[in-house]
Amino acid sequence: MTKKSWLCPAAVIVLAAALLALALKFVAGPTPVTAKDGRKAIVLAPEERGLILTEMRGFLSGIQTLTTALTQEDMKTVAATARSLGRAATHEVPPALMAKLPLEFKQLGFSVHGDFDQIALDAESLADPKHTLAQLGAVMQKCVGCHATYQLQSAPAAK
Ligand code: HEC
Repeated sequence: MTKKSWLCPAAVIVLAAALLALALKFVAGPTPVTAKDGRKAIVLAPEERGLILTEMRGFLSGIQTLTTALTQEDMKTVAATARSLGRAATHEVPPALMAKLPLEFKQLGFSVHGDFDQIALDAESLADPKHTLAQLGAVMQKCVGCHATYQLQSAPAAK
């Protein structure tokens, strides 16, 4: 066995381990710091925090539209609004921001988007406002749960 062929597999293993560590870090995200109010603080660049807060306001305004549409039994608007808050919306999150979010935060966020897709499907197939309201109540427990756990902080601007 030449020295070269002996080194190569070792180098490949080291490289693979480094890539795996990097991938795991990307999926798991950094460990959040504890904020003054006891919640976990996720530190982001101001524009990244702004992007998430914009998405949040979209959730709130979507739920407002949904609630009003439900009182009118307008299931078409219910389905369209719920779908706009569904998984398709997550494609707008840049990978660099994704990497800064803790795994649990991402899972909760994805599951909320998934719930809205289900709300859209059920609104179309069942057209039952009471069923939709129950789903809305359940998904909003996740809003409440995440807000009780996490806070977003802006990192100081780079010098
Ligand atoms: C995965 C976690 C998570 C989920 C799920 C979540 N949020 Fe948020 N939301 C946050 C965080 C973190 C903040 C910032 C809170 C802070 O810094 O004090 C926030 C802020 C907000 C804000 C304030 C926006 C602003 O401009 O300041 C609104 C409104 C909001 N969320 C609505 C919702 C609604 C409605 C839902 C459910 C449909 C929801 N959120 C689900 C994490 C979440």
